[in-house]
Amino acid sequence: MSFPKSFLWGASTSAYQIEGGNDRSALWDWEKKKGWERSGQAAGSWEKFDEDLKIIKALNLNAYRFSVEWSRVEPEPGRIDQNALERYVSWARKLGQEGIRPFVCLHHFSEPAWLLKENPRGWLDENVSGRFLHFATRVVRALSPVVSDWVTFNEPMVFLVGAYGYHQFPPGRWMLTDARKEFIPILVPNMATAHKRVYRMIHDLQPHARVGLAQNVAAVEPAHKGDEEAARLWDWFMHRNFLDLVKGSQDFLGLNYYTRIFVSKSKVPWMPLGTLPGYAELEKGMTRPVFRLLGGRRDGKPRTGMDWEVVPEAFGPLVLDYHKAYKKPVLILENGMAEPSQVTREEYLRGHLSSLNKAIEAGAEVRGYFHWSLLDNYEWGSFRPRFGLYTRDRRPADGADFYAKVAANGELPHG
Ligand code: GAL
Repeated sequence: MSFPKSFLWGASTSAYQIEGGNDRSALWDWEKKKGWERSGQAAGSWEKFDEDLKIIKALNLNAYRFSVEWSRVEPEPGRIDQNALERYVSWARKLGQEGIRPFVCLHHFSEPAWLLKENPRGWLDENVSGRFLHFATRVVRALSPVVSDWVTFNEPMVFLVGAYGYHQFPPGRWMLTDARKEFIPILVPNMATAHKRVYRMIHDLQPHARVGLAQNVAAVEPAHKGDEEAARLWDWFMHRNFLDLVKGSQDFLGLNYYTRIFVSKSKVPWMPLGTLPGYAELEKGMTRPVFRLLGGRRDGKPRTGMDWEVVPEAFGPLVLDYHKAYKKPVLILENGMAEPSQVTREEYLRGHLSSLNKAIEAGAEVRGYFHWSLLDNYEWGSFRPRFGLYTRDRRPADGADFYAKVAANGELPHG
């Protein structure tokens, strides 16, 4: 089973999750406040890029996605740290010299502490969009000689729901209960507008650039008969609405796929939009009978270390569906699993890549696949889920050799 010749085989990471020592990020104090395991030195990548590059080469990758940490580049409002910026430039340059295409993400969940002090309402305040544009412009000016592929936001909806919906990220609001008041009409459009402004800015500075974002897409299913409308609403809210808002301002459709969720009509009025997504996180927060009572559902699929169901068969059809709906070349910017898992990484990769391959045969224009993640990293509160192809001390994890083979030959080896 082979993939197109020019296919990109990559891995993705994010600054806060691997660099370590990002103490100017709003997340740094947030970790303390939440009682999370501390990110500390994370995977130490701020000092160890050359080691990371060795791994990227050992895996035979021809693309690597990383993010630029806003709080490093702009540690105080308006003050740019040239040294920090230069370090990112050097990473991209070294990748390019090895024939590895750098994909640079400008916002991956982490924001400077000063930003939220200055704008306590965060993305509800339009000023934040201006601040982001300013930061992004400085990054693009510096990196554009060595980078042509840009991801504005990583999973804007996952971020907004986490930060403004259920107190997972700073500023830590609980706004989903009245999502129709501010969340849907103000918060989401503000971020979509920021994407469009940055999209335009990049094309002005670098006309040949390719710009997109990474949208988290789950396969959505109604939990029970009668839940079809709730499922459709959740799918619109989490996935389609943002993509519709930025239509015409994406050169590629970046998708992150991990699992499926069941959605049911909520039986309690405080549930967002009257739907209950059956996330593992929600299920863990309540007893199983309460979860069932609220309409949650699980099937007997194997689970990963995140307790997410492994559902490769839904992946290809979903990719085909999004490609048809948005008519842009697709890049899978994240897909992967956390150890300890009930399937091996090789099984996980085989399942998802063959499903993706079928989608390509059926007409989906897919340009590349980025595995999450290059290294075990800080999974927003804990190091316990291990997503890496390599460990934090740069030893290959189970399945790394398999992915290296796939990337070298552009095909799935016979099982
Ligand atoms: C994504 C996110 C990553 C990583 C991954 C695994 O939602 O972009 O930062 O945490 O999930 O949970």
